[in-house]
Amino acid sequence: MEEIEIAADAPAWRELPSGRELSPEFLELRPRIYTWIEDYYDRDHLTRAGDWMLALAPEAPEYLVVAALLHDLERKVPGGPWLEMAEVSWDDRDYNDAHTFRSAVVVPTWLTAYGADPELAAAVAQPIREHEFGGSPDGDLMQAADSISFLETNAGLVAGWANSGKCSPEKALEKLRWMGERVRHPAGSRIARRYMDRAIGQFEELRMER
Ligand SMILES: [Fe+2]
Repeated sequence: MEEIEIAADAPAWRELPSGRELSPEFLELRPRIYTWIEDYYDRDHLTRAGDWMLALAPEAPEYLVVAALLHDLERKVPGGPWLEMAEVSWDDRDYNDAHTFRSAVVVPTWLTAYGADPELAAAVAQPIREHEFGGSPDGDLMQAADSISFLETNAGLVAGWANSGKCSPEKALEKLRWMGERVRHPAGSRIARRYMDRAIGQFEELRMER
């Protein structure tokens, strides 16, 4: 079901690291997560955030993989915060905190409703809160997985913002630069910068096709 263009040196779509032991609970939860995100507008980004988490940290605890796969999902629940993208800086603290803190409530609530381990449901909250700015080892991994996945999957989305006039082309490009330059995790930062350059190239192509 792969739909995005995946580079040869990137993890395969929904790949699990070979030799990694995963609990039966995690292996049972994962397909449910894929079903939950199936109709989310940015499903590929969430999927790849989970894939990149395991590529960056093959032994990452299971709660971090779950957190990566679900980190944006407050946007699936109406009534969330709104970023006036033409005007407000991408790293706006008020907007990003509202987004991450709301996801850190929505996701554990969903996990609990589906009968997931309460410890797992509680453990995803802090990494989800940290996915935009990082700050702890878990948070830095979340930020790296989010950034790389965004740059890998969303150049078209960002070009669409510019082409439809939601924001200026310069402002749209700033989003790609922010996602690439903000990454604290050292290995993640090198990969993110590569994907930033690739995404900017794709953005320019899609802009020219207008
Ligand atoms: Fe994200």
